[in-house]
Amino acid sequence: MSETNTVPVRKKRIYSGIQPSGMLTLGNYLGALKNWVAMQEEYDGIYGVMDLHAITVRQEPAKLRQQIYTTCALLLAIGLDPAKSILMVQSFVPAHAELAWILGCYTQFGELSRMTQFKDKSQKHPENINAGLFTYPALMAADILLYQADLVPVGADQKQHLEITRDIAVRMNNLYSGLFTVPDPYIPPAGARVMSLQDPAKKMSKSDENVNAWVAILDKPEDVMRKFKRAVTDSEARVCVGEGKDGVNNLIGIYAAVTGRTAQQIEAEFEGKGYGDFKTAVGEAVVETLRPVREAYDRLIADKGYLMSVYKEGSERAARLAARTLAKVRKKVGFVLEDK
Ligand code: TRP
Repeated sequence: MSETNTVPVRKKRIYSGIQPSGMLTLGNYLGALKNWVAMQEEYDGIYGVMDLHAITVRQEPAKLRQQIYTTCALLLAIGLDPAKSILMVQSFVPAHAELAWILGCYTQFGELSRMTQFKDKSQKHPENINAGLFTYPALMAADILLYQADLVPVGADQKQHLEITRDIAVRMNNLYSGLFTVPDPYIPPAGARVMSLQDPAKKMSKSDENVNAWVAILDKPEDVMRKFKRAVTDSEARVCVGEGKDGVNNLIGIYAAVTGRTAQQIEAEFEGKGYGDFKTAVGEAVVETLRPVREAYDRLIADKGYLMSVYKEGSERAARLAARTLAKVRKKVGFVLEDK
């Protein structure tokens, strides 16, 4: 920005959401959530706990409610600051469901049928291929378009949903000009891709049956240490990045992400040392990174009244922004305006 330019530049708006689906992993943290926190100054961020999306697969009510609390607490614990970003719970803002219905009427059966997540989840839950699972992308489009978001940070698994969101936005803009901002994907500068500790060819995932394959953000230090000590490496016994060294590459990536060191610095640090020392160092560095998060989480989850007051307030702010877009949509599609 030039020094003479005193006109405030509107910060770009980011919208992202996370489903309250139980434990979040070190992979979620280093790959996505940590970026949300880092982006808080530069962007106008809105972050949602997406409970409406969660019920597209069958949930146990008490467990879902607990997971919503857990996810809300975790987002605050990692450092999202309600003074800088808007934190919301999707179902607290009915405009999401209302816009989703309208967008659904501008979304084709054919394009929803092509969604790979719908196909995967239908295969996984053949007994419950419900309409919500099918129209899930229209709800996600509503989440994003309601806030006229410029950018959406999404992982590979959600890219197709962002593309359909853009298609819906463009289609509606062609019918009713100037309705929606067409959002772009946000590719983080250096998002760590954290792999399984047991099978480093696979992404770290909480649905992995082998508990030693993944680290939860809230894991106890002794569990974190055990998982890193058992991490799969190779027989070369040299701490360096290389082909065929997926396990070591992954550990170097994790260590780099939590210490801010480069791969070369890490190679130099462990020159002449074995994997035992290296794995212990990675484990300890991860424990220290997660310690303040876990401590903050423990305080927050013990005070649900406070926790929910933060989200209630964030959701009210979100609802005011959403109302503007929704009023515009209602008018453009031809509904009778309430105050007329
Ligand atoms: N579908 C996303 C997921 O499962 C969560 C989500 C819902 C989302 N609405 C969103 C992400 C809007 C980004 C923007 O991960």
